[in-house]
Amino acid sequence: MARRHARVQGAHPTLNPAFNDPGVVVTALPRHPRGWVAEHEGRVTASLLWSERDGRAAAGLLGTVGDPEDLAHIYAVAGGEWLAMGLATHTVVVPSLDRAVSDRLVDLSFGREEAYAVRSLGDRGGPPPEGAVEVERAGLDRLDAVVRLGDLVARHHEQSPVFDRHSNEFYTGLPEAYRRAVEAEDARVLLALRDGQDVGLLLWRPGAPLPLYDARSAEMILLAVHPQARGAQVGRTLVATAMRDMASFGHAAAIADWRTTNLEASRFWPAQGFLTVAHRYVRSVPARPEHG
Ligand SMILES: CC(C)(COP(=O)(O)OP(=O)(O)OC[C@H]1O[C@@H](n2cnc3c(N)ncnc32)[C@H](O)[C@@H]1OP(=O)(O)O)[C@@H](O)C(=O)NCCC(=O)NCCS
Repeated sequence: MARRHARVQGAHPTLNPAFNDPGVVVTALPRHPRGWVAEHEGRVTASLLWSERDGRAAAGLLGTVGDPEDLAHIYAVAGGEWLAMGLATHTVVVPSLDRAVSDRLVDLSFGREEAYAVRSLGDRGGPPPEGAVEVERAGLDRLDAVVRLGDLVARHHEQSPVFDRHSNEFYTGLPEAYRRAVEAEDARVLLALRDGQDVGLLLWRPGAPLPLYDARSAEMILLAVHPQARGAQVGRTLVATAMRDMASFGHAAAIADWRTTNLEASRFWPAQGFLTVAHRYVRSVPARPEHG
């Protein structure tokens, strides 16, 4: 894993240099890893570690490493066991540079679901855009506005071609989820105002969600612009402000991730200088047909 990361980090120096060290990789592994390894003549040639997340069998970046053909054989074992456990949705995260593994997953009927990207804050996010968008740093006193704009992202994700379905419980739980993000995860809230109206929201939090990223990173966790205010630099102004704030707190890089089926996000984040470093692939095994 350390050797693979060194290759990826060589191409993307913003990523965590410490993770090139096998000793650091060991500390990032779960205490009791679950998964499989492929062995040839006593040498481990591939491994797949996984955990259950949101009812899915999830193999992260940490576990999916090695020869693509060996990984395919490991998946043949893993897939059967996951299905027997009632886990019909399987996900795997792969660095973008690992083209051979990505191609092998596509041949196994996996599809791309999520892009993970990073941007250095060496330039503190670049010059702020000029315009009539005002950005306010808000707290829980503005929870109503946060929930209203946050709700928009979830509804956007439900539509074509994203089709990310949410339960009613998810929507009723939003206020609590945002309160928790601010209180327990130290999330910072930025609201964009135009003519006195709340038209955009960005939440970011300190820290890196994956050991692939530099520990001094900060993560964009939510961005939403009201449909009537889109295409008018609101998103760009929010992101530029967040990056400046992150840099002023000493963060070295900004992280974002998005659904590859989200057309707006897929165009927007690269335009803000974010470089995709990994993808999550997903496969859902269909239910057995009732008829036919
Ligand atoms: C993605 C989103 C936040 C962008 O906000 P926005 O205010 O419309 O974006 P901006 O006007 O600041 O655009 C800045 C740049 O992004 C790019 N961009 C943004 N939306 C785009 C679109 N629909 N098509 C093509 N490029 C787009 C452009 O390069 C634009 O640069 P330009 O002004 O030089 O053309 C907004 O579309 C949105 O809220 N979408 C729904 C929710 C969502 O997808 N959130 C992100 C989840 S990860």
